[in-house]
Amino acid sequence: MPENWVRVCDAKSLKSGDMLDFDHDGKKILIAKAGNQVFATDRICTHADADLSTGFLNEDEKTVTCPLHLSIFKLEDGVPQNLPATVPVKTYKVKIQDNGIYIKLD
Ligand code: FES
Repeated sequence: MPENWVRVCDAKSLKSGDMLDFDHDGKKILIAKAGNQVFATDRICTHADADLSTGFLNEDEKTVTCPLHLSIFKLEDGVPQNLPATVPVKTYKVKIQDNGIYIKLD
């Protein structure tokens, strides 16, 4: 089965500290840039129905904080660092190619 890489946007359009909503095929995905790294995770918090893209990105820690109850998720693996969330958000592989940001969907 071929790998399913989907183009999100121009690589240059995303600056460090930016968060972007990306909806594709019914999935709500968060794209976040911290330093030189770009991350992709599910956008809806695993604790309740909050949109992580309206939360707070910490560029140094490479985390996003849920705006509703303030659980902090590592962008790299989606693991929550504090309660109330206990379930990781799903993460997606990211690559930069031909000046574009691509994520790998299932
Ligand atoms: S909805 Fe995100 S921590 Fe509660």
